[in-house]
Amino acid sequence: MTGVERREIMELERTGLLPAARRDRANHRFYDFDEARRLVTRFRGNLSRGIAVVNQKGGVGKTTTVFNLAGAFAGRGRRVLAIDLDPQASLSFSFGIEPEAGEPTTEEVLAGGVDARDAVRATHIPGIDLLPASMRLAGVDARIAAVVAPQTLLRRKLEPLRAAYDILLLDCPPNLNLVTVNALVACEEALVPIEAQAYSIKAISDLSKTLAVIQDRTAQRIEMRVLPTKIDARIKICAEILEAVRAWLQDRVLPPVRTDAQLMRAVLRREPVSLSFPASKGARDYGRLADFLLEAQPQPPVRSRG
Ligand SMILES: Nc1ncnc2c1ncn2[C@@H]1O[C@H](COP(=O)(O)OP(=O)(O)O)[C@@H](O)[C@H]1O
Ligand SMILES: [Mg+2]
Repeated sequence: MTGVERREIMELERTGLLPAARRDRANHRFYDFDEARRLVTRFRGNLSRGIAVVNQKGGVGKTTTVFNLAGAFAGRGRRVLAIDLDPQASLSFSFGIEPEAGEPTTEEVLAGGVDARDAVRATHIPGIDLLPASMRLAGVDARIAAVVAPQTLLRRKLEPLRAAYDILLLDCPPNLNLVTVNALVACEEALVPIEAQAYSIKAISDLSKTLAVIQDRTAQRIEMRVLPTKIDARIKICAEILEAVRAWLQDRVLPPVRTDAQLMRAVLRREPVSLSFPASKGARDYGRLADFLLEAQPQPPVRSRG
């Protein structure tokens, strides 16, 4: 589990803060993941949560979700680190940050040996810091493929940063390449925005297979949830597809985000919608989503379909 060392657990046990652990057959103490997370959250109070916003399709609302969810979390007093992993750098642009040559970005962190702490920038939004991206990130896959355990590179790089934040939100590129795999491995949760389109079912299915492979190889549990975006309930097919996705994934389907042009205007203002248009549908939907995620309990692993 991220950021929790064995030493720390043992210290808590010694002080009597942790209740007696269960024992396995060899009489070793153990805590399961959920139990450990609950206990550490309770006693240390700042276990950071990594959420990768991911979908191999472009234009589904990943960047919009990171930008506005970051705003909603920060508005609820959480310290947020937004991480731009897309060479198009739309997230960095949304915050009004366009790194010059020589300023470190996620590319230099992944491929250039730069410490992630040196690439973090404060945004003008209180409570939100950013690890920006640049076009140089295109083609980074080939440059990191040769390092030892390339899939865990980002996870290792982010480790020293995690204690400073409550939530890390990762904006992924529109593919399932090595950078996206790095994002998933670095996180405990995957949030998958989908549009109400027939092909969304296939996208979720492909992605859950990728997650299953990662979980197999790294023994890491990644909680996947789906976020319907650009929802217009007046359009019949939109409602039907949403229904089908809910029938399949049930509790993993998050409260949807409706179509709202203010979400586009918010980017022009370089401010998450909670600040730029607090009374808009977008602000309400992302606010509700933030509340839901802060309350959410872990779900059992998802089964891929077909
Ligand atoms: N709920 C929404 N209502 C209206 N427009 C949206 C909504 N979510 C995203 N958009 C718009 O759709 C486009 C693609 O969204 P974006 O977040 O950039 O997708 P991605 O990061 O997955 O490529 C952008 O122009 C964005 O402003
Ligand atoms: Mg994007």
